Amino acid sequence: MTFPERRLRRLRRTPGLRRAFTETRLSPSDLIAPLFLKEGISDPVPISSMPGQQQHTLESLVKDAREVAERGVAGVVLFGIPAHKDATGSEASSAQGIVQRGLAALKDELGDGFVVIADLCLCEYTDHGHCGIIENGDVANDRTLEAYRRIAVSQARAGADIVAPSGMMDGQVVAIRQALDSEGLGETAILAYATKYASSFYGPFREAAEGAPQFGDRRSYQQDPANVEESLREVAEDIEEGADAVMVKPAIAYLDVVRAVKETFGYPTAAYNVSGEYSMLMAAAERGWLDERQATLETLTSIRRAGADLVISYHAKKAAEWLA
Ligand code: PBG
Repeated sequence: MTFPERRLRRLRRTPGLRRAFTETRLSPSDLIAPLFLKEGISDPVPISSMPGQQQHTLESLVKDAREVAERGVAGVVLFGIPAHKDATGSEASSAQGIVQRGLAALKDELGDGFVVIADLCLCEYTDHGHCGIIENGDVANDRTLEAYRRIAVSQARAGADIVAPSGMMDGQVVAIRQALDSEGLGETAILAYATKYASSFYGPFREAAEGAPQFGDRRSYQQDPANVEESLREVAEDIEEGADAVMVKPAIAYLDVVRAVKETFGYPTAAYNVSGEYSMLMAAAERGWLDERQATLETLTSIRRAGADLVISYHAKKAAEWLA
């Protein structure tokens, strides 16, 4: 049977029919909100390139996270911005460091019904802004792994449910897994930023997290946007090394990668709807060129439709409100 008997519009005729035949559902529990915590400020500082986002104090962080949790969002990923940076990013693994204090406060306040993820990287902590330790003008992989091991242990001890290494060093997952296990932290999970591209869409984040590279760029460790087979190798490697879940980043410009990763591995998969993707939508909405609510929910649904189980997004809090 075909047209004129077959009419695909029949199932789109009413709101009830449309709802009954929806293929992809989006709910607050599919979302993770990224939050920034800055040391040494007494009031939250708005991030001008990311309307609606701020660098938090410990107090405003806990308050915001509580509101996020109340709306049913699955959890948060926390980024720390220390008062002091140095060449090796030594503050990143300090037991009293800003992110460690934030993780402890969040865990304390929100308990086990809410997931607390620690971004694990050095770029917010190094004075040169790179994601690792520099030798001969480039990030030295294996020395950087030593630092990542210490950071993972300190973040897990502070209470992180999950650590999320985002530096794209080779061997970072196995290094962290071994460090955690040898310190009796075998319960802490790893969400690997498994495939992360050298993307222009991180621009606003670098203002937010104060982690822009002071020389060069990140192309010796982050991937070329033109590649997808390489992403499958990265994901295979991270799963082999012990990742509990994997991430694709960015999301909107990389929906094909999300789909390929999910179909190839059938593994828990997150996608990071990054700062530039957020800001471009918000900028268009501010100008009245896009409807913020519709464009946001469409974007988040598309990322789910591509195959992501979890979407990390600055839209999480508002989207959860709209979905309620
Ligand atoms: C740190 C890190 C970055 C982002 C998350 N973790 C920045 C970068 O790699 O330059 C970007 C997040 C965003 O743009 O929202 N390695």
